[in-house]
Amino acid sequence: MIRSVKGMRDILPPSSAAWNHVEAAARRVFHRFNYQEIRTPILEETALFVRGVGEETDIVSKEMYTFEDRDGSSLTMRPENTASVLRAYIEHRLDQQPGLQKLYYIGPMFRRERPQKGRYRQFYQIGAEAIGSDSPAIDAEVIELVVGLLTEVGLSDFTLLINSVGSKQSRARYNEALREQLKELAPKMCTDCRRRAETNPLRVLDCKVPEDQPIIDRLPSILDYLDDADREHFREVREFLDERGIAYEVKPRLVRGLDYYARTTFEITHGALGAQNAILGGGRYDGLAELLGSKVPAPGIGFSIGEDRLVMTTENQIEQPSLGVYIAPMGEAALRHCAVLASEIRRLDLSVEVGTERKLKRMLELANKLRARYTLIVGDNEIVTQSYALKDMSSGDQQTLTKQALLDHLARAQ
Ligand code: HAM
Repeated sequence: MIRSVKGMRDILPPSSAAWNHVEAAARRVFHRFNYQEIRTPILEETALFVRGVGEETDIVSKEMYTFEDRDGSSLTMRPENTASVLRAYIEHRLDQQPGLQKLYYIGPMFRRERPQKGRYRQFYQIGAEAIGSDSPAIDAEVIELVVGLLTEVGLSDFTLLINSVGSKQSRARYNEALREQLKELAPKMCTDCRRRAETNPLRVLDCKVPEDQPIIDRLPSILDYLDDADREHFREVREFLDERGIAYEVKPRLVRGLDYYARTTFEITHGALGAQNAILGGGRYDGLAELLGSKVPAPGIGFSIGEDRLVMTTENQIEQPSLGVYIAPMGEAALRHCAVLASEIRRLDLSVEVGTERKLKRMLELANKLRARYTLIVGDNEIVTQSYALKDMSSGDQQTLTKQALLDHLARAQ
């Protein structure tokens, strides 16, 4: 038997209904905030992520699905979508469009991580990017959007964590301070940390090795290295959130595992998720567009929700779609007649299933299992009299109706 690839899974019914529910809710919320959909390719030039996400990040250094194409070029299956959206923004000169570019996406991402509950090698993100402004008001609006989206989907009891990683200059000073301290501390840490202490000390804060955590706790806080403009920006973001009544916790260790962040970073966690408790992550990435070759600055901020994790926390609250009408044809002539009748009922936007079993008893059992709202039994007699026995499966009531009365009844039952 051929099975699906490790860390990649099928999403089957009834679970797929929960995925659709989440995506429909997300699209509604994006519309209210005036975001429009962007679809970017799964494959990009490897250089996009190496430059955009950063060579020293876990994503680029060990998790990307990268391969050589037949013409020798190096391609990568997107591990995330912010770099791709910025690439599209630059390539199509979206800076020349009026106003901010507010773009959302829903789709699969690929990272070769160790699979576990809530962590897959093909996973799905629902994300958004607001490009073209460095105003803290946009940061607060993006956070308001994502909190609204989680609420719309039915999630509660989540925690919003925020931080500022400062501008490039502030971060460079912080990196130096870390490097200095790590000279003494790094030899006691894991091999990844020892390397990062030299190459990109900020990434030491991403370390998940339990033994390293007490050492990491002793390192300086990035908030003490912000310059005046960064500090003011962060103060305003918090003020805007307070005014909106959005609760948050400031978490100075939240530097996030991608190199493009500048100033605001945030994450939302949910207790029910266990070890992989981050339902989403996001932040500002001023400077990323220039890094990817843009001639004009394009400051931006966005987030990506882990859709697999969001579905996991809300799945059991979602009502499964049920079948509208199960038609049980008795005999060959009835089967043909029912096909036509079914198409008339489907025009009412009801879901209809026409039975193929020979025995009526089997068909009625099946109608029950499929949780049909109505069952319609059609035999030779019904065809001749053009009247039908409609059974309401929840009340057990049965009535005989002419075709028009049947269609009117079903239309009202919607
Ligand atoms: P990220 O933190 O790498 O950020 O991923 C965002 C979310 O995707 C995570 O919080 C998690 O819920 C989900 N996720 C990540 N990896 C996996 C996995 N292997 N399996 C299941 N879920 C996963 C980004 O991707 C940035 N592009 C976010 C962003 C957008 N920043 C600015 N704009």
